[in-house]
Amino acid sequence: QFVWFPHMWRHNHAHRHNLTYLEAIMTQNRLFAEMYKLPIMYNYSVAPHHAGVYPVHEPLFEAWRRVWNIRVTCTEEYPHFRPASRRRGFVYRGIMVLPRQTCGLYTHTLLFSAYPGGHAALTKSIQGGEIFFSIIYNPFALFMTHQQNYGNDRLAIYTFENAVRFVNCWTNIKLKWMDPLKMGIAYFQRFPDERTPVWGNPCSDPRHLEILSSDFNCSQLALPNAVIVGPQKTGSTALYAFLKLHPNVQSNVENNVTYEEPQFFGGKAYLNGLDWYLNQFPFDSGVEGQQVLFEKSATYFDSPDAPRQMNALIDEAKLIIILINPAKRAYSWYQHMIAHKDPIAMKYSFAQVLAATDNDSERKLWKLRQRCIAPGRYAHHLDRWLEYYSPNRLLIVDGEQLKDDPVPVMNDVQQFLGLPLIDYKQLLKFNEHKGFYCSQAEGNKTKCLGKSKGRGYEPMGAELTDSLAKLYLQDNIALHKMITKMGWRTPRWLQEQLVKLS
Ligand SMILES: *[C@@H]1O[C@H](CO)[C@@H](O)[C@H](O)[C@H]1NC(C)=O
Ligand SMILES: *[C@@H]1O[C@H](CO)[C@@H](O)[C@H](O)[C@H]1NC(C)=O
Ligand SMILES: *[C@@H]1O[C@H](CO)[C@@H](O)[C@H](O)[C@H]1NC(C)=O
Ligand SMILES: *[C@@H]1O[C@H](CO)[C@@H](O)[C@H](O)[C@H]1NC(C)=O
Ligand SMILES: *[C@@H]1O[C@H](CO)[C@@H](O)[C@H](O)[C@H]1NC(C)=O
Ligand SMILES: *[C@@H]1O[C@H](CO)[C@@H](O)[C@H](O)[C@H]1NC(C)=O
Ligand SMILES: [Zn+2]
Repeated sequence: QFVWFPHMWRHNHAHRHNLTYLEAIMTQNRLFAEMYKLPIMYNYSVAPHHAGVYPVHEPLFEAWRRVWNIRVTCTEEYPHFRPASRRRGFVYRGIMVLPRQTCGLYTHTLLFSAYPGGHAALTKSIQGGEIFFSIIYNPFALFMTHQQNYGNDRLAIYTFENAVRFVNCWTNIKLKWMDPLKMGIAYFQRFPDERTPVWGNPCSDPRHLEILSSDFNCSQLALPNAVIVGPQKTGSTALYAFLKLHPNVQSNVENNVTYEEPQFFGGKAYLNGLDWYLNQFPFDSGVEGQQVLFEKSATYFDSPDAPRQMNALIDEAKLIIILINPAKRAYSWYQHMIAHKDPIAMKYSFAQVLAATDNDSERKLWKLRQRCIAPGRYAHHLDRWLEYYSPNRLLIVDGEQLKDDPVPVMNDVQQFLGLPLIDYKQLLKFNEHKGFYCSQAEGNKTKCLGKSKGRGYEPMGAELTDSLAKLYLQDNIALHKMITKMGWRTPRWLQEQLVKLS
């Protein structure tokens, strides 16, 4: 069957053009189709040379949506061209991108002799070689061939007629044609986990470099080489502020929603795409020599997807994790929710929150309990980070020491990040009024974290302290084992917890 679908007027490569231009040439294409009454049924398009699909060129997706209501496309480039068996799909801005297979027939492949290795090689590929296996291994197989002179060119038809015949003859696989939109829907029903794209570094794949948007300059690429991953309520904001005092260190820019945290990996912002993430960093932040560009998002630590997504983009980054006694962390989270006037936290005492069960009628109470408790299961979350990062890329910071005696901690951090050592004794001063250390950056004025940090509240009662210590005992034992095995330093609070209960 022949079905017409839009490709690109004059075969333009999308990554070289802006939205205005892409929209204009697509409209021209559309007028052409309407003038000749070409049926446009499938909301499907492919980009010449795969350009703009992955790595994503935002204007292509936007123009496709506006002019053609494109819902489905495909590419050979996601996540990489090779190995072909690992090509996958994703959904971005409502457009389903399916993996496309390669059949070796290009614009110039008009005659058997033009096929690399000639007729014999093509036959081999069909009869048990690459084309055959591409069909066998992919429950959804998309190929694209070029028929330079349309119906008169027989090579593509010859190839696929023979491939289909061969599969029908030698296997019991039932082949079926599906229109692209239905196939897209079926594909993501079968592989729902693939919907969220995985953003890789486009500058590290030579094929991606060729189809990279022209305003994307790889020699100015500013990706962080260090990340403070949290968890929340352990002192990550203080560490963020202290680290920024170092002259060789730059951080992400702050936004007005999540303040100093991009919350990209494992979060909703991940769907904003790579360009959005890169915009979280100052324009001139080249990273070279003893320079550190870092970001801090305390939501990363206990996010199931953050380690994998972070590793796909910045596998060489160094990660800092700040741990305090998880019982204190849980209580601090509860107080944080009180301070934010969370209706559930306002209604129930901390003891009631801890006593909540999975089948409480008040679902939100159980959720709050989980938010208090779950991030404190440190070993469990660290395990996931260790799947993607080697132990020497992780620094465990004792958050309680950071609060009481930050200078040695900052020395460890500087060493870990390979920074030239500066004297934090000159930069951090204990503030009697606040009860914690503040930075002494500008003149002699100290600059402390905002009101919301280091909040004063009633200490936890002995009974709750006790029951939380029991609740976390197994986790703390596992953490200690892990720390010992990885050769990290054991935080003092952890030693104390283990001594207390042994
Ligand atoms: C978009 O590209 C066209 C030509 O390629 C150029 O004339 C126009 O100024 C560009 N528009 C913007 C907003 O950059
Ligand atoms: C496909 O696009 C056309 C416009 O080109 C639109 O009218 C139609 O609703 C779209 N179909 C789907 C399923 O999105
Ligand atoms: C990319 O950045 C480098 C270094 O800043 C600069 O020398 C080069 O001209 C830039 N290239 C383009 C195409 O802007
Ligand atoms: C946050 O910043 C964006 C753009 O920087 C702006 O459009 C928006 O109005 C701001 N929101 C608030 C609540 O200030
Ligand atoms: C949940 O409710 C059922 C019945 O209402 C009860 O048997 C069970 O023990 C409860 N589970 C928990 C964890 O409280
Ligand atoms: C800061 O304080 C020191 C001693 O307390 C003083 O010598 C110095 O002049 C002050 N600097 C400024 C900029 O006020
Ligand atoms: Zn083409």
